[in-house]
Amino acid sequence: MKDCRLIDLPVVSDPRGDLTFIEGTKHVPFPIARVYYLYNVPADAARGGHAHKRLEQVVFALSGSFRMRVDDGEQTADFWLSNPRKGLYINRLVWREMDRFSQGAVCMVLASEPYDESDYYRDYDAFRQAAREIGRDRPGGRAWNAGADK
Ligand code: TYD
Repeated sequence: MKDCRLIDLPVVSDPRGDLTFIEGTKHVPFPIARVYYLYNVPADAARGGHAHKRLEQVVFALSGSFRMRVDDGEQTADFWLSNPRKGLYINRLVWREMDRFSQGAVCMVLASEPYDESDYYRDYDAFRQAAREIGRDRPGGRAWNAGADK
C-alpha cells in the first residue's frame, strides 16, 4: 500500500545503550507539529477507528508491541510494530485500527498538524466515500528518502 510504509531511523549504539533521534522533515517527511503517546493500554483494548483528512503521522512502538491495521479504502495491511527504530508512516485518508498491545507497550505518534477534531473521519462509510472521491488525487506520501542523509 503506497500510503503507508516503514521508516528506518538512525541509531547511535555504544556499550551504554542505543540512542535514536528524529528531526522533522529529515527523518520523517513533514515538520513535526505534535507528539502524543499511548500507554497503560489494556491488553484487550482497541484504539484508532478513524482516518484523517489532512493529517500525516508516523507511529512507533517505543516499548513493547502492538498491531496496526491500515486500510486505504481499497486494501488493508497489518503492521506489527515492536522496534523503536522503525516507524510506520501513515498518509492522510488511511483508516487505522490498533490492538494486541503487549503489557507496558508505549506507542508514540509524530503528527504533521496540531489536534483538530474536524480533521477526523470517525465514520467508516464517510471515509470510504472520501477515499474513493479523492483517492486518485492524493499525494500518496511525499517524495522523500528516509535516512539518506543523517
Ligand atoms: P483518538 O485520536 O480517537 O485516539 P486513538 O486513535 O488513539 O484511539 O483520541 C482519543 C481522545 O483524545 C479524543 O477525545 C481526542 C483526544 N485527543 C486530544 O485531545 N489531542 C490529541 O492530540 C489526540 C491524539 C487525541
